[in-house]
Amino acid sequence: MKKFYFKCRTCGHEIEGFKEWFANNQKCPQCGDNKINTIYSTPKEKIKELISKDARPESLWHYFDFLPLENKENIVTDGEGIAPIERWDFFEDYAKRKYDLNLKVFINRNDKSFATGTFKDKGGALAASVLKEHGIKEYVVASTGNTATAFAHYLAKAGISCAIFMPGDAFSDSMAHISTYGQKIFHVQGDYAYAKKVAADYAKKYNVLMTGGNLDPLRLEAKKTQVFEMLRLMGKTPDVYIQALSGGTGPFAVEKAFNDFEELGIFGKLPRFLLSQGDRCAPMADAWKKAKETNFPAGWEKDYPIYENPETLIPTIATGNPGMYPLMGPLVKRSGGDIFPVHEELALDMIRLVAYERVIKIGPASAAGLLGFFEALKRGLINDDETVFINMGESANRAYGYMHKAAYTIDEVHTVDDCEHFDRSKYKDKVWAPFEKY
Ligand SMILES: Cc1ncc(COP(=O)(O)O)c(C=O)c1O
Ligand SMILES: [Zn+2]
Repeated sequence: MKKFYFKCRTCGHEIEGFKEWFANNQKCPQCGDNKINTIYSTPKEKIKELISKDARPESLWHYFDFLPLENKENIVTDGEGIAPIERWDFFEDYAKRKYDLNLKVFINRNDKSFATGTFKDKGGALAASVLKEHGIKEYVVASTGNTATAFAHYLAKAGISCAIFMPGDAFSDSMAHISTYGQKIFHVQGDYAYAKKVAADYAKKYNVLMTGGNLDPLRLEAKKTQVFEMLRLMGKTPDVYIQALSGGTGPFAVEKAFNDFEELGIFGKLPRFLLSQGDRCAPMADAWKKAKETNFPAGWEKDYPIYENPETLIPTIATGNPGMYPLMGPLVKRSGGDIFPVHEELALDMIRLVAYERVIKIGPASAAGLLGFFEALKRGLINDDETVFINMGESANRAYGYMHKAAYTIDEVHTVDDCEHFDRSKYKDKVWAPFEKY
């Protein structure tokens, strides 16, 4: 029996595997749609053993039986997919102090992911492995930053050429990482939607395979394992799932895990998706607000704005043309969740707060996700006694400029007379101030 196959979500046609999928340009040979479900023959019960407290995974590949790779020999890995999940008492204390809520807040420390310090490492590792398995030697990726870096990294490890198309406002640190791997950056002078178009043109012109977007099984199947990790490390799935939202692969992947294992009854209820977008490019949040205010009229999910050339402080999560909204909106609604904007200007404050309280350096896209927690509290979207999981996406690696801006303790001095006696605790009020008045 084959380990896995695909089933078209639109017409039900069965596709044998990646060979057929790639040969058909990642479309269903029967109806031409690109939404497919990956179905495994591995008995579902096997997951219980993999998520047991005694399991000692070394990487994503601990979950090999539920990943779409046939042969373990093709695994490309850098220890990704097992980032720690830790409780943040300073977030819990804040919720108690300001809103009288008793919460358990768990943070997925993707900044610690070994290869690139982002949650995109999982997708990069699976993509490189599958491409290797199928003897594919080149690939095209369009990305705002982190997917690009992760794919460039893992494909380089597998000896696969990766042509990457990034929008004009991409962080130069991202490009520097990728370029030093010896992968190709085409820095497209235009927005992300336009970079995707140029990438597709390149893929067509040179007949190269290109990433399949937010529903690409290479990304979804890898990212669904975060739910397995929640069960393994938290012992249960959360009531609330918080993440910065761009295209939506993260939430779609979470849903996939819940759907796949529903019959086992151990995953519990789908968490409420509380998804934040930077306020300078928040098309899904804006569409959602309108839908909510008009009581979700028929066809609401197809009504969304497109923002061309958005001017944002966090380009890593800026998808101005939210083509996934017709699927993401309904998913959020089904979950009882919400989509809302957060103030991009507060990203620096969040970076300082986390660096002060936890001594870790995070990037602006992570800050947008964490701001989602504060905004959700303010909007009354989290209830007493709930468990909150925040998928914190990235380290500071990809945006050193932000770290320089976040620095706030540097005094130029000439002699000791210029030096006031230093006491770190004095900064505590300063870093908390923006959130106390939030
Ligand atoms: C750090 C970080 N957080 C969040 C996102 C949003 O990812 P998605 O909406 O595709 O799940 C991204 C990717 O763009 C990211 O790099
Ligand atoms: Zn089909």
